[in-house]
Amino acid sequence: MKGKSLVSIADLSPEDILEIVHLSGFFEKNPQPHLLEGKVVATVFYEPSTRTRLSFETAVQRLGGRIIGFADARTSSVRKGESLKDTILTVANYSDLIVMRHPLEGSARYAAEVSPIPIINAGDGANQHPTQTLLDLYSIQKTQGRLDNLTIFMVGDLKFGRTVHSLIMAMSHFNPRFVFISHPDLRLPREYTSFLRERGIPFQEQTGFSGLEEADILYVTRVQKERFSDPIEYEKVKDFYRLTLDMLQGTKPNMRVMHPLPRVDEIAIEVDSSPKAYYFQQARNGVFTRQAIIARILGLM
Ligand code: CP
Repeated sequence: MKGKSLVSIADLSPEDILEIVHLSGFFEKNPQPHLLEGKVVATVFYEPSTRTRLSFETAVQRLGGRIIGFADARTSSVRKGESLKDTILTVANYSDLIVMRHPLEGSARYAAEVSPIPIINAGDGANQHPTQTLLDLYSIQKTQGRLDNLTIFMVGDLKFGRTVHSLIMAMSHFNPRFVFISHPDLRLPREYTSFLRERGIPFQEQTGFSGLEEADILYVTRVQKERFSDPIEYEKVKDFYRLTLDMLQGTKPNMRVMHPLPRVDEIAIEVDSSPKAYYFQQARNGVFTRQAIIARILGLM
């Protein structure tokens, strides 16, 4: 990973993934080794974010580095029409690493191709969100004690959900079984069902929550209003499912509900009180995992 961009989870071998998971545990136990002294990390966000940007910035601060960047591209010269390439080439003059979120699929790959310094994809449209996936894997390892042979239920916006797409690809190394629950209009794209079929990974698609007692992980996602060009289409699917506390009855004692967040209505607030609700701890794990990713890419560990 040293000196390389992280654009897609497919850029990483299973060994790379396991190393990041392992290093995340190291940073959880040793939160503030000053490895980034004298280094500058830029966060360049063309789309809103709370967790990804702030956990990256916390990770850099805890490692003793400094942060520059923008949380809203409208406050940058993008507003004056500056291209993505020119922005990246400019920010690369001021920093050692760029963390970028952008609404266009493929933008992170393009940025990595033109950039003289590594780019970390913090989400590119409906495509990929690899650092979320790595923190999800760390969360799964922490709660289940393993990554292998797990039954993962994925619920929600499987069509546009970049966290779902990245997680499916990463888990494919670890002999999973998947159950996909979505509105028929938000089914997993064919690209990913073909990916699973080619690898012989078992999965089923359904519209209801049946079979939850088999789940090790219930990974819930939001229907992303911002990905719909037609608001009527969004209205049609937005309230299709909602996880409530009673639905967790009969699930495995060690089953955990995960969600990349933000949540809208897809998990009732009452679920937060359940010991099976793991989404806020999951968000916390993001700091340790992003410390690990930065340390590996900058060749500091
Ligand atoms: N999970 C995630 O990407 O959250 P943010 O959009 O708040 O960064």
